[in-house]
Amino acid sequence: MKYLKSKTHHYQITIDGPAGSGKSTIAKLLTRELGFLYIDSGAMYRAVTLYLTEKNLLNKSEKIIKSHLKKIKINFRKNKNGHIVILNNKDISKKIRSQIVNKSVSEVSAKKNIRQEMVKRQKKLAKDQFVVMDGRDIGTTVLPNAELKIYLTASPYIRAVRRKKDLTKLSEKISATELIKQIQKRDNIDSSRTISPLSKAHDAIVIDSTNLTISEVLKQISLLLPVK
Ligand code: CDP
Repeated sequence: MKYLKSKTHHYQITIDGPAGSGKSTIAKLLTRELGFLYIDSGAMYRAVTLYLTEKNLLNKSEKIIKSHLKKIKINFRKNKNGHIVILNNKDISKKIRSQIVNKSVSEVSAKKNIRQEMVKRQKKLAKDQFVVMDGRDIGTTVLPNAELKIYLTASPYIRAVRRKKDLTKLSEKISATELIKQIQKRDNIDSSRTISPLSKAHDAIVIDSTNLTISEVLKQISLLLPVK
């Protein structure tokens, strides 16, 4: 992938969109191609959800939850298997993709204190970095000055089919109908919450991946990069 890298200017790419649109697959490949840092903002909300679930805090007040946030240390590392997510020194990369987390992550990430803290951490991680960050509010709230903003979408059906494949790899069984319901519920919560909802930044480029392969999406993005 041809791309003009400036020594002084940190190029930043945001990829937002609904569940199963292919954001993380594209973001990972793009960072590998470009040698950028990958920040998976969804993994941070998933890590918080896992922590609250395991500590039985999901239904506690915002005040109690807020007091726990400083105990939640989230780090990203790269190893031979790819990107791993560490929560308080434990590798939770697999656990955060499970159905238990899928079910409550949107409710958790709609909480004001949690959002404020995660957005603060995400801005800090991206500061002075060549970065690709994916999520729901990255182009609108976290990195509003990013050079390239992509809004990646796909039909609910195709997104459910993709998610079913991911879950089968984790040996979790769920019907396609149930998954479509779950994805639509998550889309609704994510798009209707008051604080930084899932929405397309006014200057984002929309790519509908319903009928596109991964390499076709990558090709479209590569055409948007400043070239040598
Ligand atoms: O991979 P998938 O699109 O299913 O989800 P994800 O990117 O891992 O994000 C999981 C959930 O975290 C989303 O459904 C949102 O509720 C929340 N999220 C968010 O609120 N803001 C972000 N920047 C990223 C994720």
